[in-house]
Amino acid sequence: MSERSIRWGVLATGGMAAAFTEDLLREPGAQVVAVGSRSEAGAQRFAQRFGIPRAYGRWQDLAADPEVDVVYVATPHAHHVTAATACLEAGKPVLCEKPFALSGRQARLVTELAAKRELFLMEAMWTYVNPLVRRVAELTSDGAIGEVRAVHAHFGARVSVPPEHRLWDPAAGGGALLDLGTYPVSFAHLLLGAPESVTAHARLSPQGVDEQTGILLGYAGGAMAVLTCSLLADDERRAVVYGTRGRVEIPADFYNPPAFVLHRDGHEPRTYAATPQEGNGYGHQAREVMRCLGSGLTESPLVPSAGTLAVMDTLDAVRARIGVRYPGE
Ligand SMILES: NC(=O)c1ccc[n+]([C@@H]2O[C@H](COP(=O)([O-])OP(=O)(O)OC[C@H]3O[C@@H](n4cnc5c(N)ncnc54)[C@H](OP(=O)(O)O)[C@@H]3O)[C@@H](O)[C@H]2O)c1
Repeated sequence: MSERSIRWGVLATGGMAAAFTEDLLREPGAQVVAVGSRSEAGAQRFAQRFGIPRAYGRWQDLAADPEVDVVYVATPHAHHVTAATACLEAGKPVLCEKPFALSGRQARLVTELAAKRELFLMEAMWTYVNPLVRRVAELTSDGAIGEVRAVHAHFGARVSVPPEHRLWDPAAGGGALLDLGTYPVSFAHLLLGAPESVTAHARLSPQGVDEQTGILLGYAGGAMAVLTCSLLADDERRAVVYGTRGRVEIPADFYNPPAFVLHRDGHEPRTYAATPQEGNGYGHQAREVMRCLGSGLTESPLVPSAGTLAVMDTLDAVRARIGVRYPGE
């Protein structure tokens, strides 16, 4: 696969499918050759909009297309497992949107299938392949701010969508936690690993999903993560990593930052700025998938399945604390 461009199939035709397709079309090594939808008309509309040659009204037909090298799954969360499974069963590598699944149990079904079929599988946790976020992880693990004592990360976005929208629907895995909270939780996992203890408080909607949630993760050695997510309030969407000899401040949006500032005791603050790039910020992720496929890898070392499963387990633990359950989880 390394000698030619990678042929992508896009599964679903919503906002995120469009944003990622736009970025794929900017990548010299990528072609978008097919789209799959729940309906023929939806697939045709998306194909026309982006100049995609083949449009399918059934996910299985996209998965069976012999000229698709990898499928990008961008359905609502509750359908990630079904969609990814259909693709893996047809022999296709998969990049699956975040949150990877509704629960750790569901996530394991998919990762086990990919391992059995020896197929590439990656959660679209684009933060993990962002060069600046990687740099923060390297600096902190190299001791640039001493021992990490605390991670603070916040993602709130006040939404005004009707009550029937997927964000409020328990059957769709609605709520702030899976849509937004997965970023601060994943960020804490990147820097501190899996927590020893999980505490959380939430306000639930009349439908029973979380409107906003505060999360406190405890780690061996005393470090902690203080994380929030909200569908009710815009917040700073920033993160700070505190160490024994300094701190790293990451301004909005911390999951795709324009810059970060390293404050080290006894030194002038140093700013690390992102390289300007066109598009929506998903190019790094597209290139990482294509690099892995070209190298014959079945997972990305930057977004390994073990990490995805550990995050899902933490999200499960948060939900157990706040009393949120999804049908079919
Ligand atoms: N990485 C990021 O930055 C980012 C940003 C936003 C969202 N996301 C993730 O991307 C996923 C999709 O989000 P979105 O904002 O694109 O959602 P969206 O705009 O609601 O679109 C989702 C698409 O999935 C399909 N779909 C809708 N309802 C469905 C159902 N009941 N069963 C099966 N398919 C259904 C539809 O496509 P068809 O009509 O063609 O079937 C729809 O257009 C979510 O998991 C979300 O967490 C990631």
